[in-house]
Amino acid sequence: MAMKEVMEKSGISNPRGLGITAEFSVDPANNITGYKSFRAGKFQFRRDEYFAYIETPKGTHMMSVDAFLRALMRDVAWGFFYGTVNFDPVFGTTNFYGEVDMFYGALNEAYVSEGRDYIERFKSDQLMNIFKQMISDWTNAGFDPFAAPRETGVPWGAKNGDNDGAVSRQRVTARRMVGMKGDTPLRSDKSGFPVNVMFHDVDQDQPEVHAEPGFEGEVSAFNLFGYLSRSDVTWNPSVCSVVKDSLFCPTTEEYILPVEHGNDRCEWFIQLSDEITWNIKDGSSGRPKAVVQMKPGDVACMPADIRHQGFSPKRSMLLVWENGSPKLPELIREGKAPTVAVQF
Ligand SMILES: [Fe+2]
Repeated sequence: MAMKEVMEKSGISNPRGLGITAEFSVDPANNITGYKSFRAGKFQFRRDEYFAYIETPKGTHMMSVDAFLRALMRDVAWGFFYGTVNFDPVFGTTNFYGEVDMFYGALNEAYVSEGRDYIERFKSDQLMNIFKQMISDWTNAGFDPFAAPRETGVPWGAKNGDNDGAVSRQRVTARRMVGMKGDTPLRSDKSGFPVNVMFHDVDQDQPEVHAEPGFEGEVSAFNLFGYLSRSDVTWNPSVCSVVKDSLFCPTTEEYILPVEHGNDRCEWFIQLSDEITWNIKDGSSGRPKAVVQMKPGDVACMPADIRHQGFSPKRSMLLVWENGSPKLPELIREGKAPTVAVQF
């Protein structure tokens, strides 16, 4: 079918050989709750006062709408991110960079062994279009799914306005480095980014830069701790400096990473302040593998075949270091690149 031709032309990896679904619909708002329902292929999404429901041919999955919206927000703002975004141990998406798999139970050992798993493949921009409509319709006024729980209202109840300003935020993606001419700007009180209450002890001085004449646009420096202390979102690794495929993605974290991120490449973590505890599970089966407690200065490398979820009791600063090479996932799948960055 035409599908196969698309795959061959695009060169997009499709290890399961799935056809592409292009059926989407939006049902009118429910008379009682006021929320619309959304369909992407055979996945049907609806919400009520407390829960999101995902109906699939293999079963219906329920999530707290709080957790669902926080996870959906990351998938939307990150453009499906690297690898897999597990909303929880059952439902999620896997990014093939141009196309995306949406799955139910497919990365859960028990669901798979009982034949209860289900996957469909979509064009990324088409599924993103439905996800964006869903986060817009299902987010009420006063609830910001990017914010830490203590900093925002609640998502419960019947439909009540929207928070489109908050849910349309994109993550920062610097071309070279934050603060350089023509690049993504530094944060300040004036630009609407006050220092977070948990970071009032963070020095706000900026380094002095004295560039040689002619190099003013090439030499730059900024106070990264000051910059992070002014982040208005949590669990949102943002590209702050770029050297070829080397991406520094620092972020501030508080409460729980709303997804279990399934890596498709190795990913370095440098704990810059406070503490995060990571639950590490096998990427395919979901079996628990390790608990990693990171304190300031600790460095860890998450392997390419795991999923991880972090818990941060206080707002903390984390540097996530990504290798952005588009070749890596395929090399790892084919066994041509290792799943760990270092072997001792
Ligand atoms: Fe990750």
